[in-house]
Amino acid sequence: MKIAVLTGGGDCPGLNAAVRAVVYRAEQRGHTVWGLRDGWKGLLSSDPPTRLDRASVQEIVGWGGTVLGSSRTNPFKSEDTAKDALRRFQDGGFEGLVAIGGDDTLSAALAMHQRGGPVVGVPKTMDNDVEGTDWTFGFDSATSVAMDALSRLRDTARSHHRVLILEVMGRHAGWVALLAGLASGADYTVLPEEPFDIARFRECVQRAIQARGYALVVASEGAEVSSDLRGGTATRDDFGHEILREKGVAAYLARRLEEEGGWECRTAVIGHIQRGGPPTLFDRVLATRLGAYAIDLVERREFGKVAVLRGEEIRAIPLAEAVARTRKVSPYWLDLLHTFDA
Ligand code: F6P
Repeated sequence: MKIAVLTGGGDCPGLNAAVRAVVYRAEQRGHTVWGLRDGWKGLLSSDPPTRLDRASVQEIVGWGGTVLGSSRTNPFKSEDTAKDALRRFQDGGFEGLVAIGGDDTLSAALAMHQRGGPVVGVPKTMDNDVEGTDWTFGFDSATSVAMDALSRLRDTARSHHRVLILEVMGRHAGWVALLAGLASGADYTVLPEEPFDIARFRECVQRAIQARGYALVVASEGAEVSSDLRGGTATRDDFGHEILREKGVAAYLARRLEEEGGWECRTAVIGHIQRGGPPTLFDRVLATRLGAYAIDLVERREFGKVAVLRGEEIRAIPLAEAVARTRKVSPYWLDLLHTFDA
């Protein structure tokens, strides 16, 4: 079979491990693999796909980013571009496509499948918010970076007797903030899944300061802390998402604490630092297993499915199930998190 592969949406550690696994498993079974450049954009461009073989991907298992490039292009946004993309795919003689991405890329894969395109999905995202899989690769690596940042911030918070607030990514779900906060002993963690309670937030910060002279807070960029805060609405991406980088959740929280408690605060926004760097062991292995399984799905012509992790097992669920909703932090995790509030 002639199989295409693309990586779409925000990059994250583990993408190259998944691409490598797609290529190795395909070659092992006698198929050829071609990489589309820059996500779905590669299906709208006249640039030819790149032939991928074992030699070209053998070193990339531990590399961050994606050697294929990525974009937030959605060819299924209009019927014209959808037709164009499908025509190019057919003209290329491809018999299967492995689309590696988060909810947006997988929604585009579903749109392609609904138009008769032979596509399977592999879930990735540092946000960990894809439904139907226990974890997505990219998340463990990104959250480990946030955890490292928090341990550095704790040192300086302790030295200067300050409140240090770290803002982390996570557009619709607070998984990164949740696990970074839990694993770092944060005094309070602000998530999009809960209504923001300023009184409780202040109390926790006050208790931490009384106990040891400083406080450590984690805030998710997606948290709704004030109706006055807006992301960059002028720059929505192709999938209609608000760009959150200018929203300033940590800055807002610091302002409130300084005004109302008189505490000296500092903020840090680690942004895209979380998305780069080498994948962790967990992400490399998960990406490798999912990439190999995606080729098994293509070979069996089980199109319209996505490879997922359930417990110890990799298996397939319909793309429609994976994109039906965003996977949010559950009450179990919220309860555990608040056990450790200051
Ligand atoms: O891919 C998810 C994500 O990392 C979100 O957590 C974040 O809000 C967004 O991407 C940032 O997107 P971009 O890299 O396009 O600015």
